Amino acid sequence: MADFQRTFGIIKPDAVSKKVAGQIIARIEESGLSVVAMKRMQLDTETAQGFYAVHKERPFFGELVSFMTSGPVVALVMEGDDAIKRWRDLMGPTNSEEAPAGTLRGDFGTDIEQNAVHGSDAPETAKLEISYFFNASEIQALVEALP
Ligand code: RTP
Ligand code: MG
Repeated sequence: MADFQRTFGIIKPDAVSKKVAGQIIARIEESGLSVVAMKRMQLDTETAQGFYAVHKERPFFGELVSFMTSGPVVALVMEGDDAIKRWRDLMGPTNSEEAPAGTLRGDFGTDIEQNAVHGSDAPETAKLEISYFFNASEIQALVEALP
């Protein structure tokens, strides 16, 4: 049986500056997922470092933080049956150079770093990431109980 879930996404600075944020939101809605919260903002260094803290020992961490603070982003909460996997499938693999056409990263990203979108990878990270960026009052009220 499908799991009704919420997940978190970011339209990254490369996609916002290319003015494809609207197309990405349209793809989300066409896929059947519902957007239940949305906010355009400029991340500061501390916020970006905290968000990607899991990668802080990785060689690309500094570059990743510079990229994520290079311009505005759009943060989103989406919901639907199996929303976490459906959003990751819509995004495509991390490296835009290897992402198939028809995926967001294939169509709108450039390379392994500038890859247009972020998505939570599990229920625990989705919950953490949603609360990192949104207060309860900014998210559409739930109609169904989540686990
Ligand atoms: P995300 O967290 O943004 O949804 O991406 P992901 O799960 O597909 O990939 P992850 O391994 O979590 O990497 C986070 C982001 O770091 C950048 N990256 N750069 N230069 C590099 O080798 C490299 N590898 C990853 C990408 O922006 C990636 O989405
Ligand atoms: Mg990740």
